[in-house]
Amino acid sequence: MNVLITGGCGFIGSNLVKYIRKNRPEWKVVNLDKLTYAGNLENLSEFEGDPKHVFVRGDIGNPELVEHLIAQHSVDAIMHLAAESHVDRSILGPEVFVATNVLGTQRLLEAARSRGIKRFLMVSTDEVYGSLGPTGAFTEKSPLQPSSPYSASKTSADLISLAYHHTFGMDVIVTRCSNNYGRYQFPEKLIPLMVVNALHDKPLPVYGDGANVRDWLHVEDHCSALVTALEKGKAGEVYNIGGGAERKNIEIVKAILGLVGKPESLIKYVKDRPGHDRRYAIDPSKTKAELGWSPAHTFEAGLADTVKWYVDNPTWWERVTSGAYRQYFETQYRAR
Ligand code: NAD
Ligand code: DAU
Repeated sequence: MNVLITGGCGFIGSNLVKYIRKNRPEWKVVNLDKLTYAGNLENLSEFEGDPKHVFVRGDIGNPELVEHLIAQHSVDAIMHLAAESHVDRSILGPEVFVATNVLGTQRLLEAARSRGIKRFLMVSTDEVYGSLGPTGAFTEKSPLQPSSPYSASKTSADLISLAYHHTFGMDVIVTRCSNNYGRYQFPEKLIPLMVVNALHDKPLPVYGDGANVRDWLHVEDHCSALVTALEKGKAGEVYNIGGGAERKNIEIVKAILGLVGKPESLIKYVKDRPGHDRRYAIDPSKTKAELGWSPAHTFEAGLADTVKWYVDNPTWWERVTSGAYRQYFETQYRAR
C-alpha cells in the first residue's frame, strides 16, 4: 500500500505517520505538507533517510503537484488531514480556512479522481454537528449545524467529499472525530497551552465559565481508527470516532495544575469565545460495531502521559513557541 498523507507534519498527521511506520511498516507514506505555522517537520526527524517516508513540501490546492506525486509513487489511497484547524484563528481570519479546507479539499479530490485513486479518507470533525444540550450524543445521522468559520469550512469539505462519492462514484470515506490530545500538539490548543503556561507560572485563560464540555480521545486511538477505517470502511459511509471521555474544560485545567504541581490561583476566567459551542459528545457505536475499533487509552492515564511528555520535552515546545522549529526544514531538507 502506498498512501499519500496530507498534513503529515501537523499534530495528528505526525502521530499518524509514526503509527503507520510502526504498525504497517510495509506501507510507503508520501507526506504532503505545506509547513504552515502548524506543520513541524522536526516531529518526524527519526525518519530522515527512510525510503518508506517521503516528505514533500507543497499545497493540497496544487493539482499538478498532487497528480505528479500520485503517479510518481503509485499512490493507492489518500488520507486527507491537511487543514487550518484552530477555531480561534478562524474567528480572527476566516479566509484561509475557506481557501485550504474548502477549495484545497475540492482540488485534492479532483486530482485524486483524475488519477483514479482507489480510496480517499476525509478526516472530518465532530464540530460539523454544532453544539449539544446537556444530554445526548452525535450520531452519523445528526443534523450538520456548524457554528464557527472553522467548522463550517470542515463541513463543506466533508460534504464535497461525500458528493464526489455520490456523483462520480469515487471511493470516499468520511471520519468525524472528537477532540484529540497527546504528544506534538501545537501549544495553542487547550491542553498543551495550559501545560506550557502553568510551567511558566503564567495565567491559564479559561473561556467563559469553564463549563463547556469536550469529548476527548487520545491521538493514537484516532490514528488506529483512521487506519482501520481506511482498511475496513465502506465507500460512501461516515464513521464517528470518540473516546467516551466527556470533561468540562475547567476539570481538565485543574487536573493539569495538579499534575504539574502548580496552584489553582493561576486560573484566569477570560471573555468567552464568540459562538462557543457548549457541549460535544460522540456516539461511536457504528464505528465500533462495523469496523471493530475501540480506543486503548483511558483519559486519566493518557492525560498524565501527555502532561509528562510536555514536562520532559521543554525543547520541543520552546522551539515551537519561539518559532525555531521552522529552521529544521531549511537545514535538513532545503540544503540537500
Ligand atoms: P494541525 O493544525 O496540527 O496540522 C495541520 C497540518 O496541515 C499542518 O502540518 C499544516 O502545515 C498542514 N497544512 C495546512 N494547510 C495546508 C495546505 N494548504 N497544504 C498542505 N498542508 C497544509 O491539525 P491537527 O490538529 O493535526 O488536525 C488534523 C486534521 O484532523 C484536520 O483536518 C482537523 O480538522 C482534523 N481534526 C482534528 C481534531 C483535533 O482535535 N485536533 C479532531 C478532529 C478532526
Ligand atoms: O472537536 C474536534 C475539534 O477539537 C477539532 O476539529 C479542532 O481542530 C480542534 O482544534 C478542537 O477544537 P476546540 O475548539 O474544541 O479545541 P480548543 O483546544 O481550541 O478548545 C477546547 C476547549 O477549551 C474549548 O471549549 C475552548 C476552551 N479553551 C481553549 C483555549 C485555547 C479555553 O477555555 N481557553 C483556551 O485558551
